Amino acid sequence: MQMNNLLCEYEEGVAVVTVNRPKALNALNRETLEELLGCFAELATIRELVGVIITGAGDKAFVAGADIAAMQGLDALAGRAFGLLGQRVMRTIETFAKPVIAAVNGFALGGGCELAMACDIRIAAVNARFGQPEVNLGVIPGFGGTQRLPRLIGVGPALELLLTGDMIDADEAYRLGLVNRVVTPEQLLPHCREILANVAKKGPISIKLCKEAVRAGMELDIDSACRQEADLFGLCFASADQKEGMQAFLEKRAAMFGDH
Ligand code: CAA
Repeated sequence: MQMNNLLCEYEEGVAVVTVNRPKALNALNRETLEELLGCFAELATIRELVGVIITGAGDKAFVAGADIAAMQGLDALAGRAFGLLGQRVMRTIETFAKPVIAAVNGFALGGGCELAMACDIRIAAVNARFGQPEVNLGVIPGFGGTQRLPRLIGVGPALELLLTGDMIDADEAYRLGLVNRVVTPEQLLPHCREILANVAKKGPISIKLCKEAVRAGMELDIDSACRQEADLFGLCFASADQKEGMQAFLEKRAAMFGDH
């Protein structure tokens, strides 16, 4: 797929998707959002894909938000359509069958923070900065930020960030539970790859069903979510992963799972 704003490299089960508009601090315009949709559709066809890492080009920004220059002249209908497009991208990532890790290498603001929040795991470099500064621009977050931020860090801390538009550093993001870990810029991609190398050793069916159980379950009441967990747990017993995983344990050897 020919892409103007994204780099997508695939090697040994890991895809690295880099938002590549460094002159605009990797801001998300319509074309970039559409390319993200296309890219994830293609990645979904790679059977042996273990997971995806999303990062930003350059050493300054992950993604500094939706593209303000592109949004400036929108009317209400076009603004809504742009929001819906961004939301579709975030939902595609969130529901993607394989784990997606955000390698946050700098500013993750507005749509950039929303992109990181749609990923399953967030690893931040020490120079990462997070925020939802939309109120500075006379708008509100439009790619799911008003919903994912309170779900991730709680209503009080989320509202403080959303209502002040303040930026926080990586350590504060870690303290709030917005990121899983903070590492040096040099360690960022290797660390994300290490996580996926660890995932690669596990049963591919259980990885997929585990993400599904968490992601779909978060949207249900506890009884329905637990019923769904029981269904997915039951489904594991129809898989080669369960046969091999349990047999390997009982034979005191490492499990040899199939391709992801
Ligand atoms: N959209 C478009 N262009 C952007 C951008 C954005 N979100 N963020 C930065 N840029 C551009 C700047 O306009 C500038 O371009 P020029 O060199 O052509 O002037 C270039 O990137 C470098 O930016 P700065 O000169 O501003 O760099 P800085 O180091 O002084 O500041 C910054 C960095 C604090 C991140 C600052 O650029 C900034 O505040 N950016 C905007 C952040 C923002 O408000 N994001 C939210 C957008 S709204 C949104 O995302 C809505 C939603 O939920 C969908």
